[in-house]
Amino acid sequence: MTATQRLLLASRNPHKLVEVRAVLEPLGWQVLSVADQPKLAQLPDPTETGATFSENAQLKAEFYRPFWPDAILADDSGLEVAALNGFPGVASNRWFLGTAAQRNQALLTKLATLEATESVNRAAQFVTVLAWMAPQKTQVKFFKGIVSGRLLDEPHGQAGFGYDPLFVPAGYDQSFAELGLKEKNKLSHRAQALRALIEFLTHDQSETV
Ligand code: IMP
Repeated sequence: MTATQRLLLASRNPHKLVEVRAVLEPLGWQVLSVADQPKLAQLPDPTETGATFSENAQLKAEFYRPFWPDAILADDSGLEVAALNGFPGVASNRWFLGTAAQRNQALLTKLATLEATESVNRAAQFVTVLAWMAPQKTQVKFFKGIVSGRLLDEPHGQAGFGYDPLFVPAGYDQSFAELGLKEKNKLSHRAQALRALIEFLTHDQSETV
């Protein structure tokens, strides 16, 4: 990796941007989001038609390639709840229309409905798949991160986004939303996938030129 290279994060999610920047900018990457780039911001969002995180990450990276010559990084991620057979998974952002707080409440209601008939396993995991495209290239390389944990009965904490107030990572007793960015970025699914990407880039400099 050489100093200050531009990287497009193929997302408009400001929370993902903050997390990715915190990891990559100290290493010399200038991380830009779709929302920062007027020409990209006016494009429609790519439709996430994939059945897997990898398929969706790939289609997001490929969508922006014709419009962006430098490196592209796409993140597709979600929450998998054991008692719901991995739901909501790739549909984490869209299975329930409303705010994140309303979606969290809807998820708790789903679990409470199950709980009425059985003792519910509250295990869950966050998954991220990153799709990396080197400058000018069209091939995609994938990096995955998973963090296991459990779901709380009610939201706790204000930091982060999405399901963070419900999710307590294994070995901790506070939610991601209580732990905050610095702590989350030591162990999250996204941070793990980013570390795998950094490892790859460090050992294969040709991918960045
Ligand atoms: P995507 O844009 O399709 O990748 O949507 C990912 C969705 O999964 C987000 O909108 C959140 O609902 C959820 N999600 C993914 N990563 C996280 C995280 O780190 N914290 C909380 N929720 C997350």
